Amino acid sequence: MFQGVMPLKCINQILRVIDFQKWEKCFVCCSGTFRLERLLTMTFPHLEIHSNDVSLFSTTIGRSATREPFEIRFVNRLSFIEEQFPEMAFADRVAAVHLAFQMSRFVGNNLYAQKHFQYFIDNFEKLLPLQSEKITGTIQDMRISSYFAGDWRDHVQNTMQTEGAGIIGFPPFFKAGYERQFKFIDENISWESPRYEVYDPKDLESIIDWIDASGTPFFIISDQLFDDHPPSTEFTKAGRAPHYGYTNTKRSSLVCVPTRSKPFKYIPVKVEKLHEESTVKIVPFEPDEMNFLKDCNLSNKIKHVGGMWNFAVFVDDMLVGGLILSLDKFNSQGKLYLLSDFSISRAAKLSKMVAMLSTSKTVVRQIDIRRLTKTKTIMTTAFSNHPVSMKYRGIFNLTVRKESQSAETRYALNYESDVSDLTAQEIYNKWWYRYGPGSERKGRKIKNRNSTG
Ligand SMILES: C[S@@+](CC[C@H](N)C(=O)[O-])C[C@H]1O[C@@H](n2cnc3c(N)ncnc32)[C@H](O)[C@@H]1O
Repeated sequence: MFQGVMPLKCINQILRVIDFQKWEKCFVCCSGTFRLERLLTMTFPHLEIHSNDVSLFSTTIGRSATREPFEIRFVNRLSFIEEQFPEMAFADRVAAVHLAFQMSRFVGNNLYAQKHFQYFIDNFEKLLPLQSEKITGTIQDMRISSYFAGDWRDHVQNTMQTEGAGIIGFPPFFKAGYERQFKFIDENISWESPRYEVYDPKDLESIIDWIDASGTPFFIISDQLFDDHPPSTEFTKAGRAPHYGYTNTKRSSLVCVPTRSKPFKYIPVKVEKLHEESTVKIVPFEPDEMNFLKDCNLSNKIKHVGGMWNFAVFVDDMLVGGLILSLDKFNSQGKLYLLSDFSISRAAKLSKMVAMLSTSKTVVRQIDIRRLTKTKTIMTTAFSNHPVSMKYRGIFNLTVRKESQSAETRYALNYESDVSDLTAQEIYNKWWYRYGPGSERKGRKIKNRNSTG
């Protein structure tokens, strides 16, 4: 699945802020799936649209729309396509590129990936016309005047030299994120790809300054906030990076998609009732139930994001806290990202217990069974004014310490831990003696022994 399609709510914000009736030409930078183009085509029949991207994924759509076929050859792991269909027309080759992109999710060595990959090979002949139909539908929905396969900064430069033109850009939020997303198709499909310099989002503020100074109307979406450029629009939704809109027009818009929350009754943990033999339960939770827990227990200054797998932690049927895990940004093999781990009480290092439980095989197995994979590492990020996080100290390894972008905290700290061979119950036991009430008793015993001996 293509990551980073422009949210419809963002497109609505653009339509509210930009007066396209006054634009003759719209230069879209980083077209991706051409979602914006399709909406602009429907809404503004007078507008001349000039699209752009660097990827083969987008170029196949762009060049199909402008009727400029080009050479595409399937090689290496995709050479079976050339062998099975040597006489393929351009439209079928385009569909094959998009099937190959879907196959790129299954290039791993695990059984699940191998079976899916083989499914595509075995059924390619059936899948090809279906994919081709989808692409034809996409192309029929849009009317673009040109497509530029190249760097979006060159596309910006071209816009500046074009009368009556404005820029709409949605460049990547991460450096080389799309190069990673398209690695498989780039390595296994040959075409005359454009030369370009990998875009680094760190450069965006100066690019905005450059466009602003030219007087060309623009609207650029980013997840970054800049000191000298207040955004005109803001779109936030739990589970997604914020989308800020930067423009040189005056109108502004703010959209926040509310999260749903489902209240439920629970018995909150009482530390004095915990004991060495207490029973731990890890219970899968619905997102709405987790939202309720987060609303009650987490700071409302932080934008809480939803994850793919939610668990509540109970000890002797008392609720201790919650865990939210997700795939990491790049769907890295063997890794899961711990989006949130929290305890509902600050007492007795309960938060450390919850963080430790995230690495237990009881939690990780429940996810691995569904994904038919084996997770080896749990990663997380802590935001703190201290150079280390007390919660993760001693249980996760600090891998990166960066100055945080936020005004509220000084550091962004990346942590990682191996997945443990211990069950949740065994981890509770470890926590009890190392950090929980058991550690104090053990400490007292040692002290007493020393004073009597
Ligand atoms: C956030 S997506 C755009 C999504 C698109 N607006 C949509 O709704 O589908 C970013 C796009 O930028 C493209 N890209 C990455 N680096 C680029 C560069 N230097 N110049 C032009 N496009 C680039 C990627 O291939 C990707 O399609």
